[in-house]
Amino acid sequence: MSEKVRIGVIGVGGMAGGHIHNITTGKAGDRCEITAVCDTNEERLAWVKDRFSLEAESFTSAEDMIRSGKVDALLVATPHFFHPDLAILGFKHGLHVLIEKPAGVHTKHVREMNAAAKASGKVFAIMFNQRIKPFYQKLKDLVDSGDLGEIKRVQWVITNWYRSQSYYDSGTWRATWAGEGGGVLLNQCPHQLDIWQWCFGLPEEVTAYCQFGKYHDIEVEDDVTAYMKYKEGYSATFIASTGETPGTNRLEIACDMGKLVAENDTLIFWRNRKSERKFNAEFKGGFGSPECWKCEIPLKTDAAAHEKIVENFVNAILDGEELIAPGEEGLNSLMLSNAMLLSQWRGNQAVKLSLDDEEFHNLLQKNIDASKAKK
Ligand SMILES: NC(=O)c1ccc[n+]([C@@H]2O[C@H](COP(=O)([O-])OP(=O)(O)OC[C@H]3O[C@@H](n4cnc5c(N)ncnc54)[C@H](O)[C@@H]3O)[C@@H](O)[C@H]2O)c1
Repeated sequence: MSEKVRIGVIGVGGMAGGHIHNITTGKAGDRCEITAVCDTNEERLAWVKDRFSLEAESFTSAEDMIRSGKVDALLVATPHFFHPDLAILGFKHGLHVLIEKPAGVHTKHVREMNAAAKASGKVFAIMFNQRIKPFYQKLKDLVDSGDLGEIKRVQWVITNWYRSQSYYDSGTWRATWAGEGGGVLLNQCPHQLDIWQWCFGLPEEVTAYCQFGKYHDIEVEDDVTAYMKYKEGYSATFIASTGETPGTNRLEIACDMGKLVAENDTLIFWRNRKSERKFNAEFKGGFGSPECWKCEIPLKTDAAAHEKIVENFVNAILDGEELIAPGEEGLNSLMLSNAMLLSQWRGNQAVKLSLDDEEFHNLLQKNIDASKAKK
């Protein structure tokens, strides 16, 4: 391999524009370059070459680009449906792959991608850039450290994803079963669902209420309330919507040692001086509760996110650096969102994890067949 990792970008739309800017301006380090770009839309190809004065070769077929010998690694930033197939093709041709989130649309497809990645031995990463944020790193650190004591309940209300109808109308693939394969869970929430599984792992079962096109003229879900049951005994709720404004982004963890609240880029630990379980066993005074301190957790200043994931991917290829977001882990957040939809389609029955891939895929396919968009 040349000294620089030669990256081929597939799908040069809005998100890829940001990645290409980061790579061409050196924000993602100086050990990678863009040597090829691919898009099925020739106008996008012309735009990207002009906008970034790229010398890169352009392709309208991803397969031609992958076979061209011009690239060592792929950055896949197409609509979600294509992520697994393009990654699999890349692995088959000995390329390293960085995919955009979500990993794909359904777990069956993503498991195939993960198997291809494993068989290839190539570096496989996913753009879960929120993992870089000091805010989420500290949150995970607190959960992992045991400082919170036993978790009693987790709830995340993430409704500040307000989207207007014109947003949905801006791309024919958006918010359709055939074009996108899901709504708020698949487009807006993969980062939160990833942080969720990163911090708490996967629940035993998921029950959800998903409303399709509640606030918009769209086919997919724009309002979700999910309940998750953990083997450790705690329950958890995840609430998401693109139809509320002003919205909320508040993650609350009730625990034996108090309560951790993550909101407005601040982490507040309402810290009980004594474990609640211990207090409950010992206190004889009737009404009462443990003394509690409000502690604001100091956070490092926000770190660059998307470019750091690209740089880490390049370092993993060149030096074997540990990945911040291994591609295989994209399966977990997708499993959560697939389980929420499956629960709705089963008449709000509980869905056990790790999910019946075939059942979900068959029900999704029914919606795709009835979709007004063409895949
Ligand atoms: N990590 C993040 O923070 C973040 C933010 C926004 C979007 N994304 C993800 O990036 C992906 C792209 O989103 P976007 O908003 O840039 O979409 P977009 O519609 O702006 O761009 C997608 C591009 O892919 C092209 N394309 C479609 N099918 C193709 C194919 N088979 N081969 C080659 N090109 C193809 C389209 O012509 C278009 O130019 C999505 O999966 C989205 O979830 C991630």
